[in-house]
Amino acid sequence: MANNMLLSQEAYRKIDRELTKFPADQKQSAVMAALAIAQDEKGWLSPEVMQDVADYLGMAAIAVQEVATFYNMFNTKPVGKYKISVCTNLPCALSGGDRAGEYLKQKLGIDYKETTPDGQFTLIEGECMGACGDAPVMLVNNKRMCSFMSNDKLDALLEELKK
Ligand code: FES
Repeated sequence: MANNMLLSQEAYRKIDRELTKFPADQKQSAVMAALAIAQDEKGWLSPEVMQDVADYLGMAAIAVQEVATFYNMFNTKPVGKYKISVCTNLPCALSGGDRAGEYLKQKLGIDYKETTPDGQFTLIEGECMGACGDAPVMLVNNKRMCSFMSNDKLDALLEELKK
């Protein structure tokens, strides 16, 4: 059990469920799932939350931090309510990904890795999402995939999210 218990009972229950998928001596195998659960609840992974996950899984905090900083789906800094990850890997970049990113930057008035002053939107560059044929593609909060994002569709997405 973690000492601090920074997450809700429900979150620990979900982590416990993930833990049942692995042998008792391999709790660290659930680290990705545990971090995703923690992030869903907290919005981002503060050092305290990473420590909590480390304690819960019986891991060194540094090992948890290494996982969290390696994958760009994990937020190790506070982010806006909506994190939009634009795929700018080469196939997408050549098929409108760069243009879509520039359009969003201009509309939101921020650069990549920045958050709008009202805390609504964070923009980041994403890695290949396995949907290169649907470029420009982006993910909202790591979960919602948006494809063929023309400027009109980007306008509509931002309007919808602002509501
Ligand atoms: S390069 Fe963008 S989805 Fe593959």
